[in-house]
Amino acid sequence: MFRLSRTSVIAWTAVVAVIAVLSYALTGVAVPRAAAKDKAKAKAAPVEFTADGKLKRPVGYRKWVYVGEVVTPNDMNDGEASFPEFHSVYMDPESFAEYEKTGKYRDGTVLIKELSSVGSKKAPSGNGYFQGEFTGLEASIKDSKRFKDEPGNWAYFSFGHKYPLKAEVSKNAAAACNQCHQDNAQKDDWVFSKDYPVLRAAAPKSK
Ligand code: HEC
Repeated sequence: MFRLSRTSVIAWTAVVAVIAVLSYALTGVAVPRAAAKDKAKAKAAPVEFTADGKLKRPVGYRKWVYVGEVVTPNDMNDGEASFPEFHSVYMDPESFAEYEKTGKYRDGTVLIKELSSVGSKKAPSGNGYFQGEFTGLEASIKDSKRFKDEPGNWAYFSFGHKYPLKAEVSKNAAAACNQCHQDNAQKDDWVFSKDYPVLRAAAPKSK
């Protein structure tokens, strides 16, 4: 008959205890490490590209820093504004933090311009332009390696002006987008910073 001696019970208890401590140590340490790795990855890449260099439609940007809003209503632009109608502009948080320190757009900056329609023109608060539905999405990215041949190292992407938006797009020709930014905002690194009160307020005052 199999009978456990006192010593073997103690030995087995010790083995179980060691396994418990080890697995706690491994999971307890491994889980935060994996999370930190994921976080670092997320920080490094606010947007993603396909293997052939197309930009995948950005996600999560509505949680970035909302820097300002421009409205070019169709009814003030011969019925069809070139970028209709509300433009909500977002900046990736890491680049915003850098902007607060330096007043500059760091390499890797991503700016998103999300378009939405005018929904109504009257509300209990008064007459005006009230935001309707999301209609379009544009992005601009500064990257001195990936876009070393683009003027100012800025590339511009449009996912369309009506839903469903495209899932991935190639950068636009410089003549279609970059040129107007260069012509009108070159002194501020291709960005229309003056239109974004959050950026005006965030820039260091010495600037
Ligand atoms: C005729 C001039 C003009 C052209 C062409 C133009 N833009 Fe812009 N863009 C502007 C102006 C002015 C703003 C400032 C905010 C606004 O009015 O929407 C702006 C703002 C932006 C922003 C927000 C960040 C910033 O730089 O201020 C993005 C992103 C953007 N445009 C993308 C594009 C894309 C993509 C194209 C090409 C499909 C394009 N733009 C073509 C004038 C232009």
